[in-house]
Parts: sequence; C-alpha cells; structure tokens
Amino acid sequence: MIQETPKHPTVQSPPVPAPSRATESLAPYDAVSSLSVIRRLPRGAVPLKLDWNESSIPPTPKVIEAITGFLANGHHLNWYPELGAAGLREDLARYTGVPAEGILVTNGSDDALDLLCRTFIDPGDDVVVVWPTYGHFLIFARGRGVEPRKAMPPDPFQDAVATLLETLTPATRMVYLPSPANPTGVLTSPQDVASLCRAFPATLFVVDEAYYEFAGITSAPLVQHLPNLAVTRTFSKCFGIAGLRVGYLMAGPYLMGHLRKPYNPKSVNALAQVGARAALADVDAREAYIAQVRGARAFLVTELRRRGAEVRNSEANFINVRVRDPRRLVQALESVAVFVRDRSHLEGFEGYIRITIGTLSQMNDLVERIDLLLEREPDLLAAP
Ligand SMILES: Cc1ncc(COP(=O)(O)O)c(C=O)c1O
Repeated sequence: MIQETPKHPTVQSPPVPAPSRATESLAPYDAVSSLSVIRRLPRGAVPLKLDWNESSIPPTPKVIEAITGFLANGHHLNWYPELGAAGLREDLARYTGVPAEGILVTNGSDDALDLLCRTFIDPGDDVVVVWPTYGHFLIFARGRGVEPRKAMPPDPFQDAVATLLETLTPATRMVYLPSPANPTGVLTSPQDVASLCRAFPATLFVVDEAYYEFAGITSAPLVQHLPNLAVTRTFSKCFGIAGLRVGYLMAGPYLMGHLRKPYNPKSVNALAQVGARAALADVDAREAYIAQVRGARAFLVTELRRRGAEVRNSEANFINVRVRDPRRLVQALESVAVFVRDRSHLEGFEGYIRITIGTLSQMNDLVERIDLLLEREPDLLAAP
C-alpha cells in the first residue's frame, strides 16, 4: 500500500557525524603569525620576523644543495620516503649519544609531543604543565580529553622544581617540562630532572629541548637510565629549517616499545629528511649561528636596558621585555616592520612581549628602528 505523504511534514535536520568528546570541547588553534602581513609588505621593505623563534637566516647553502641534488632524481618524490628516517636517525645517534633505537624522527617536534600524548594519556588523566608554557602542548593534551593542571612557580623566571614537587601526585600521568622553557627561557638542570623522575616513577616526564643548542645543557643522556623520561628536540630553531618540519624524540626501551605502536614511519617527508641530514652535517655553520645569537642576545639586552626597558634575558634565542602597554609596543613595532610576540595575556606573565634573537646586524637594525619609535613615543618601553 502506498503511504500518503503528510501535508505538513516536520523538517528534521539529517544526522551528522559527531566529533569525539575531546574534540568537541576544543577551540580551533588560533595561530597568530606575522607571515601573512609580511607577504603584503611593500616591495623593498625588510621585515624583522622575531615572533616565532625560528632561525632568522635561511638554511645554509649545503642544505639547499642537498635538496636540489636529491630532486635531480624524479623518483625521489614518487616513492615514499626512507621509512622511520633511518639514515637521519643514525646521524642523530652520533649527534646526541643516544642509540638509534632510542630515537624517533617526527614531523616537527610538535608531532613528537602529540605522539607522546596519544600514547600515554587517557581521558581524564592528571597531566601537569610548567606554567607559563608552550601553547601547542595544551592542544595535544586537550585532544586526549585532558585539561592540564598548571605548576606555576611564584616567579615565572624561577625554575619550577619546588612547585612541581608540591603539585605532583603518584597518580600524575605526565609532566610537560620544556628546558629552556618557552616563553620564559628558564632551564631545568639534568640533576633536577633525574630527581623528579626518581621521585615519581609512574609519571612520564617530557622534557622539551627545542632550544637546547642555544643553552648547551641537556637531559638527553638520562633517557638510557630513566624509564620514565622522554626528551624532544627540533630542527626548527638553530638548524634553520622550520619550514621542512623535522623534530625527534629520545627515550629508553620501555617508552619506545609503546611509542612505536602508533608511530607512523612515513610521516617525515623525503625533502625534510635530506635537509635535516645536511643541516646536521654542517657543524661549522650551526656553531657560527649559535655564537652569533648569543652575542646578539647580550647586545640587545644591554641596548634595551640602556633605553630604560625591563628585560629578562634567557638561555634560548629569545628574551622577554615587560612594558606598561604591550599592545601599543607590538603595534608600534609592526609599523616599522618588526614582528614580535605578545605573551602578556598568559596568566602570571602579564606585561611581557617576547623577542626572537637573530644575528648581530639584525639586532642592530632592530635597535635603530626602536630608536625611531622612541623619538615619537619616548615612554614606549616604560615598565608597568
Ligand atoms: C618549546 C617548544 N616546543 C616545540 C616547538 C615546536 O617545534 P617544531 O617546529 O619542531 O614543531 C616550539 C616552537 O616554537 C617550542 O617553542
């Protein structure tokens, strides 16, 4: 029998796929980068991109040559890349002293942090971050259905060890501890990392060493002795290839046994692997850049203090300046094509803007542009 169509059918929206509960509660990551503004600058303008702590100069000619040479064989792009970046892992074993089996190469160190969260966090777990922190880790943790607790030392520029000892419980699943930390630049000593790992054996300590090379202090060798420690690093800072997206993590056999299960061995693209191997091999260029940054950092700190600014130096390729009106300073700098990062909205970090350190000539240029601004607005750098 043919059913009659009702005269006034109720309009029902069709069913739609629901996101996971963790995703539903996330807000899209609101990335603020100056790149789109820089691309629209008038011809001839020289931007100073000092907002994302990348290397401030292009990769060395050896990196470009390696990539161009690799592209000469067309098959290098239609085939999948070398699985697990095996060659790069061998190079990294020599560079870090950690055996190749204790290293996983990832698509930027962000990918390493995500892998750690996916492998070791369940919804509702207790996860602690040293605060203020690198924002993207929060997204990865929240993506697992976790709202991390903050370990906030009374002074953000003090190390967080005492605060962590008060904050952690034996049930804490993971601690995110960057060293040098972003945005503060604070270092945590390997001795303190080891004590924390021993005091909380069921907690996974993730030490993010994205800025290791600028400070020269590392917890990496400890991963062979501490089964609850993972250390992540990146090629985005002193190696100058943030655009290629290469990072890695180091851990002992216990953690590796689990991390290898969700790890995708073809996630690091072929050009990234070639570029990273060439950048790692170009030791002289890297050491020269790090020395430049250290010198330029000292220069900029002195010059800003000479102009009355309240400056916090760091062990990384950035410094922080606390000012009365961070928004006004950021906008004034943008008017002379200088791009820095306003970090003043972070709880406990009010008033601070973060400036990436580049070469000495770039920092000289920065000081000249600041002087131009100070002529018009003499209180621009005034502390609160
Ligand atoms: C502390 C920290 N970890 C990780 C990253 C991301 O590095 P990558 O480019 O390797 O994903 C950054 C980038 O700014 C960072 O500051």
